[in-house]
Amino acid sequence: MEEMFNTLPKHSCTWLKGNSTWYKYQNFWTLQRFHLGAILAQQNLKAQPSDILVCSYPKTGTTWLKALSFAIVTRQKFDKSANPLLTTFPHDCMPFLETDLDLIEENRNKSPLISTHLPYQSLPESTISSNCKIVYIYRNVKDVIVSQFHFLRGIHKLPMDDSSFEEAFDDFCQGISGYGPYWEHILGYWNASLERPGKILFLKYEDLKRDPTSNLIKLAEFLGSPFSDGEVKDGVVENIIKLCSFENLSNLDVNKNGLHNNLIEKQIFFRKAKDGDWKNYFTDEMKEKIDNLVDEKLKGTNLVLK
Ligand code: A3P
Repeated sequence: MEEMFNTLPKHSCTWLKGNSTWYKYQNFWTLQRFHLGAILAQQNLKAQPSDILVCSYPKTGTTWLKALSFAIVTRQKFDKSANPLLTTFPHDCMPFLETDLDLIEENRNKSPLISTHLPYQSLPESTISSNCKIVYIYRNVKDVIVSQFHFLRGIHKLPMDDSSFEEAFDDFCQGISGYGPYWEHILGYWNASLERPGKILFLKYEDLKRDPTSNLIKLAEFLGSPFSDGEVKDGVVENIIKLCSFENLSNLDVNKNGLHNNLIEKQIFFRKAKDGDWKNYFTDEMKEKIDNLVDEKLKGTNLVLK
């Protein structure tokens, strides 16, 4: 493996001061350890038809989608006051394919959810042959760029200066970003959703913010745990929305303190959660460049990333 990685295209981001080296393998960029985890999963995962994959490109709303999906599929098991999300970091509520392969088997007793940032083309073959359902979240590209910049600079305790943001933006436009290119990630899942109708649900971060209720009802139906009329009347949908809201999750002790995987401060996963924060960072030229780029890349789909 070491030898193989030596032959791959690699990129050390200047805006991360050499703290992070990404490799391009299977047509996407990420850290060596996630590529290695992906290879292990591809070789060893025995997916079950009941497994449900929670898939996303980083910084598109993964934390939120994980919390919502987990709350939906486990809602019969817990009282409102004893929900595990009150004491568990959302990312710890389900195994992450690239790092938690050994937890997947045992976790099936608790929930069918497995999360991953892998592009569709790199999902383990057994997830495709088992026809596993996939829920995919995506988000306005400009907010993703800003969110990624803050997250990765934050991890390395670097200041948020304008010149570094420009470098991060340039890398992103060249497709060099964690699990990037972003548009390839989206297109992979989008094309698969056309080939496998009913098996891949697309949710958009901004739609979830604008209309959480109907999106949650759609998500619950897709996950095979639809809300009954009684539950809707009893406010179960609203309770899950509240439980998983940015305001609630970001203020819980479990999410404010400590490290995720002994590496990343959990609070970095909760920043502003605003739609349109990019306006504070982008020049007119940057806006035009990225809008044109995604228009061109996503031509023919009805996906809007602007
Ligand atoms: P910002 O950096 O724009 O604030 P991911 O979960 O994929 O890492 O994405 C992180 C982004 O989602 C961050 O966006 C974060 O603030 C936002 N976020 C985290 N939890 C959220 C929640 N419960 N509801 C809405 N947005 C959330």
